[in-house]
Amino acid sequence: MQLILFGPPGSGKGTQAALIVERLGFMHISTGELLRAAINSHSPLGQRVKEIVRSGLLVSDEIVSQLVREAIRPRLLEGKSIIFDGYPRTLQQVGDLEKLFEDTQVTQIKALSLDVPGEVVVSRLSGRLQCRSCGSVYHLDHKPPKMPGVCDACGGMVSQRPDDNPTTIRERLRVYEEQTRPVLDAYEGKGRLIRVSGEGTTERIYARIACALECHCV
Ligand code: AP5
Ligand code: MG
Repeated sequence: MQLILFGPPGSGKGTQAALIVERLGFMHISTGELLRAAINSHSPLGQRVKEIVRSGLLVSDEIVSQLVREAIRPRLLEGKSIIFDGYPRTLQQVGDLEKLFEDTQVTQIKALSLDVPGEVVVSRLSGRLQCRSCGSVYHLDHKPPKMPGVCDACGGMVSQRPDDNPTTIRERLRVYEEQTRPVLDAYEGKGRLIRVSGEGTTERIYARIACALECHCV
């Protein structure tokens, strides 16, 4: 089964994806992580997208869909279950993903939205810290690393993401409403969206997601 995980910036997509990978054996693909890896490696692609990601705007559909296709087509052909975190984010990307599923004969797909109010996501993003090496996610108040600045998982350096400043957070939320809300509406309109509350403890939210994955709805 393939899982498309929607939710505004800071809704907990990455946090829940890590639990789903660990407990249910899915593979995780996050377009945000792929783009940050390109930026950190100073590759030509990274140089092209760096300013776009820092500003909170979306990278072009063509670049992102090609990245996704290259990263996962072989895995889909092997029958691997994948969590799509942050993709698709535009109606064009929805079409690109549908083509990829057709091409790899994937038919079992669930789309799930983590619903979290605006004020909660702003507070989550303002306190988020992330490991520069392994990508593990922390929060200054809810989940601080045991040693300040040091990743519990790999010992790497933990810091704030460059796009987690107040101006860019506002822009990312605006872009989400403008470009990704229509994607959610399209899935919902076709009766293909499961809505899950993204509020409460991470374990409670995980339990809701696991339940939605087990049931035969949608
Ligand atoms: P991306 O990296 O995908 O960022 P995002 O969608 O803005 O989402 P985040 O990663 O910020 O939040 P999250 O939902 O993963 O929350 P997390 O689990 O970390 O994209 C970044 C940029 O890349 C985009 O702006 C764009 O430029 C580009 N891009 C990416 N995909 C693209 C695409 N498809 N097309 C074009 N451009 C694209 O949690 C957040 C914080 O909350 C953490 O500190 C966590 O510890 C805490 N937290 C989580 N759950 C809880 C809880 N239950 N209670 C309390 N705290 C919690
Ligand atoms: Mg994320």
